Amino acid sequence: MEPIVEPSDTAEPVIVANRLPVTAVGTGDGTVRWKRSPGGLVSALSSRGGSGRTTWVGWAGTPSQGAAPAPPAPDRDGPTLVPVPISADEYATYYEGLSNGALWPLYHDAVVPPVVDAAHWDGYTRVNERFARAAADAAPPGGTVWVHDYHLQLVPGMLRRLRPDTRIGFFLHIPFPGKDLMRRLPWAGAILDGLLGADLIGFQTAEHADGFASCLAELGTGPPGPPRSAALRYGLRRDGRDVDVGVFPISIDPAEYDGLASRPRTRARAREIRERTGRPHHLLLGVDRLDYTKGIEARLEALRRLLEQGRLRPGEVAMVQVATPTRSGMREYARTRRRVEEAVSRINGEYGSVGAPVVHYLYDTLDRERLASLYRAADVLVATPYRDGMNLVCKEYVASRGDLGGALVLSRFAGAAAELAEAHLVNPFDPADIAQALVRAVEQSPEESARRMAAMRAHLAENDVHAWAHLFLSALTAAPVTTP
Ligand code: ADP
Ligand code: G6P
Repeated sequence: MEPIVEPSDTAEPVIVANRLPVTAVGTGDGTVRWKRSPGGLVSALSSRGGSGRTTWVGWAGTPSQGAAPAPPAPDRDGPTLVPVPISADEYATYYEGLSNGALWPLYHDAVVPPVVDAAHWDGYTRVNERFARAAADAAPPGGTVWVHDYHLQLVPGMLRRLRPDTRIGFFLHIPFPGKDLMRRLPWAGAILDGLLGADLIGFQTAEHADGFASCLAELGTGPPGPPRSAALRYGLRRDGRDVDVGVFPISIDPAEYDGLASRPRTRARAREIRERTGRPHHLLLGVDRLDYTKGIEARLEALRRLLEQGRLRPGEVAMVQVATPTRSGMREYARTRRRVEEAVSRINGEYGSVGAPVVHYLYDTLDRERLASLYRAADVLVATPYRDGMNLVCKEYVASRGDLGGALVLSRFAGAAAELAEAHLVNPFDPADIAQALVRAVEQSPEESARRMAAMRAHLAENDVHAWAHLFLSALTAAPVTTP
């Protein structure tokens, strides 16, 4: 086997992700406006920057007939955007159907039942093929391609066939299930095969990587072997190539939120938020996409119980919940929205008074400066997902607390729990446990807050999004690419 590409850690990878960092929004008069795309993947990759001009292959966020809308010209340091069109039919099969109706719930512990439909799989395969071709066209000879997330798990295998000269990395932003869940998917074998087209497959946590290994053992090509280096978790041979499997917890750029949160304007806004929420002793905050995996109802139920039991009193406690609209055409998302809004109304109906609700609920997307003001204002950030790949919101909160104030209540089932040991960790399926943690969080002394926050901030300072990308790309480029 001859190495065909020399290792290099300087080349910028071609990024391939379902979404471009910006989404086209129709204005009604036939023109298009561009706004930042939602979610943690775009937040992280946009903060990462890069050492040169990157190409980013992705969808512009609206279904189109024929060519995709032309994306905006790149900023000076921004990526060159290569749009991949997705038709209305593919939106239904590839995006809503297989990606978000089957894979998203399945990979999040099947908190709602996954929908299995062969037409969705056809759409998924077709769109993955299109992304693979676009990536093959965009990659320079011997270049590096970095494929992201559950929408594109067939791309590594397809791209390998089209462009065997490239190095291919794959990173999954969401959890990977174990074999018992994965066997519910009739196409599990094809997905494992697609992923094994990569040279390096990265997961957020060791648990997710171990789930992948259990799937390979039971539903794939057999159990993986030991890693080729201490920085990796497993290794295997595939068609005469090495495939590495590693754990790379994604992060944020803490300096960005630290800077935003310490601006005088942000701090003034934070004070204003406390005034407007009735100058509570305890201000709780939730910031999420309005997704059923995020456990928004669970935290509202915990708050309701504390009010019912008189352990927290209206006037003394207030909560701000910001929920970003997401996948709103899908039934489970509409249902979650209804449930969350009923829970908010119930609390406000029972414990609020005129002009003084307990829960201040916004169904909206806020800019980062406004988010930073909320992070700075809140005594407790409550992140209670039933399952989450990482949860960047809690890292943004920690980064915003240069004053060492505040406390974090965090689900054990978020990837971030493996890193942020000084959070108050909870079982989101148990409202009593969340309630108990909320009480501990609001009662902790300023010294205790500062100790916990300083430890979490020290962890983030060392493990930021730049370190994440560097570790992944160095592992990807460390070994020569070989062909059989
Ligand atoms: P996910 O990727 O599942 O949405 P994360 O917590 O990892 O979850 O990332 C969410 C990202 O979206 C964060 O960068 C966060 O700041 C942003 N975000 C979440 N809710 C809102 C909101 N209401 N307005 C603006 N940005 C939001
Ligand atoms: C999560 C996923 C991303 C996705 C984002 C927003 O962060 O890991 O891949 O882009 O949610 O979801 P959407 O369906 O709007 O792209």
